[in-house]
Amino acid sequence: METVITTDINYCADLLKGHEVIAIPTETVYGLAASIYDERALKHIFTLKGRPSNNPLIVHIYSIDQLKELTNHIPEKALALAKAFWPGPLSLVLPKSDVVNSIVSAGLDTVAVRMPNHPVTLELLKTADIPLAAPSANPFTRISPTHSHHVYDYFKGQIPAILEGGPCQVGVESTIVGFFDDGITLLRRGGLSRESIESVIGPIKIAGKTTKIQAPGMHLKHYAPHTKLILSNDIPETLKSMDSPHIGVIAFSTDNLPKSAQTLIILSKSKDYEEAAQKLYSALHELDEEGLDIIVAERLPDEGLGATINDRLERAQRS
Ligand code: TXA
Ligand code: MG
Repeated sequence: METVITTDINYCADLLKGHEVIAIPTETVYGLAASIYDERALKHIFTLKGRPSNNPLIVHIYSIDQLKELTNHIPEKALALAKAFWPGPLSLVLPKSDVVNSIVSAGLDTVAVRMPNHPVTLELLKTADIPLAAPSANPFTRISPTHSHHVYDYFKGQIPAILEGGPCQVGVESTIVGFFDDGITLLRRGGLSRESIESVIGPIKIAGKTTKIQAPGMHLKHYAPHTKLILSNDIPETLKSMDSPHIGVIAFSTDNLPKSAQTLIILSKSKDYEEAAQKLYSALHELDEEGLDIIVAERLPDEGLGATINDRLERAQRS
């Protein structure tokens, strides 16, 4: 199968209606999308990714009316978040309606929904007028794609099209917030900070390691490069203790680095968390292709999107 990288939205809408899985851009990461009504295509997403079937998919919509069809009940605070942050990097886990296929929800009685903030994909969602289930467009446990060429490298020959949307502006996955009987819980850190969410609806719970797995995708090993990665609080100190000649460094903003850092990527010279998040996965993809012995990544302050970046780096460290 030939994989085209295209800007033709009508063509992509037709492919989706013709039972195909295609890649779509979002502001967070690229996704592998299929119609939520198409069992065959939904199953194909899991095969393409090598993803366990007990790991549910996020549904992408362009209007609040679509949300009303997908859920039985929208709590007041969920609506407040949707109004404040959609379109944007926030997924809400809500009680699902019968419209949502159990392949999408992986047998759970909830569904994760978001409205992506990307003009091309919003246009596609309107044109197809079907909610689209889309996980990140990477093989299971690998680094998420933030450029169309990342998707091409992973899935060329396996999907008919990648809808071109340029580099993803947020660069890390959506934040997932679950609305459960026992409270509102942050299930995955992501492109919208916990602080922003709490500024609208007040304090929320954080899913801990002991929390019953409400987001089955929260595997500890995730977002992993092939190259070994370690997290460091003090890059110059860490580098001193290493004698390997091929070291890659991902620094937040540090510039007083010893020469032993062969390949250095600074995420944000101005210490801007948004900029750092946007560049994070590209940096991992890039360094992973260099054949390095090790990647040393700098831990960020645990605030705003710094906490999201640390979460991803911790998971990348566990390979
Ligand atoms: O930014 C994003 O969210 C990207 C783009 C493409 O929209 N999508 C994405 O999907 O990151 P994925 O499949 O890679 O991660 C989805 C996460 C998984 O950890 C999954 O377990 C969780 O969402 N999830 C989905 N439905 C859920 C549900 N009903 N309850 C709890 N967690 C859910
Ligand atoms: Mg993913």
